[in-house]
Amino acid sequence: MSHYALVPAAGSGARMGGEMPKQYLPLAGRPMIWHALAALCATPAIRKVFVVLSPEDTYWPLAAMAALGDKLVVLRCGGETRAASVANGLREMAARIDGNGDEWVLVHDAARPCLTVAMVETLIAAVGEDDAGGILAMPVADTLKKAFEREEDVPPRIAHTVPREGLWQAQTPQMFRRRMLLEALDFAPQVTDEASAIEALGLKPRLVEGEIGNLKVTWPRDLQLAELILASREQHA
Ligand code: CTP
Ligand code: MG
Repeated sequence: MSHYALVPAAGSGARMGGEMPKQYLPLAGRPMIWHALAALCATPAIRKVFVVLSPEDTYWPLAAMAALGDKLVVLRCGGETRAASVANGLREMAARIDGNGDEWVLVHDAARPCLTVAMVETLIAAVGEDDAGGILAMPVADTLKKAFEREEDVPPRIAHTVPREGLWQAQTPQMFRRRMLLEALDFAPQVTDEASAIEALGLKPRLVEGEIGNLKVTWPRDLQLAELILASREQHA
């Protein structure tokens, strides 16, 4: 069965607060988005890597991407939300592949630059041909606290402790069959990840244990952590 990657990269990075969208900020000598695209392009099982940009994007670093080869396909069809960008990308990619909708799509955030080929292969192997699909995720390790509403300038108080038994943090890639994922996103467009849309259809995707290093860069401090992770890999390579 064929596998494709779809990378939504049409966000503005509001929480990062930089001058340019966070996916283009420099990280370990390259634009951040290069790292995830490089891992996906280097995975033999992935046939093509579709990246979804905002139609108004002026930052796409064409020259830096040339070396990634002809697996990479740029789609300028980003939407208002992440879910809309993914749905638009799923529709556009249909014309560029030969598939009946059963092919697998691995959706991965441009803002998770520390992805490795091994992580991608772990997900593909664990999901196999299970129609409900699956996602990389991490079991929650810390004790979780529910906070009372925050008052200004003082730390909030603990309302109660949330049992962490059975709780996982969702990462990406998230792997589903193309037609089913599109139907799910049309049915439940408010979701913040693909799995939530599939869950809304009543399916039960698998939680495949990933690695803590597959972090999402959201705030400026995350950029430093990602830089350290990528640098430590360079040293061991
Ligand atoms: N994304 C997208 N289209 C949108 C919003 C987000 O393709 N309308 C993408 C982002 O570019 C990113 C991924 O979805 O690769 C995860 O989103 P997030 O980390 O929230 O990025 P931003 O939305 O850009 O950041 P923020 O929420 O801080 O504005
Ligand atoms: Mg966002």
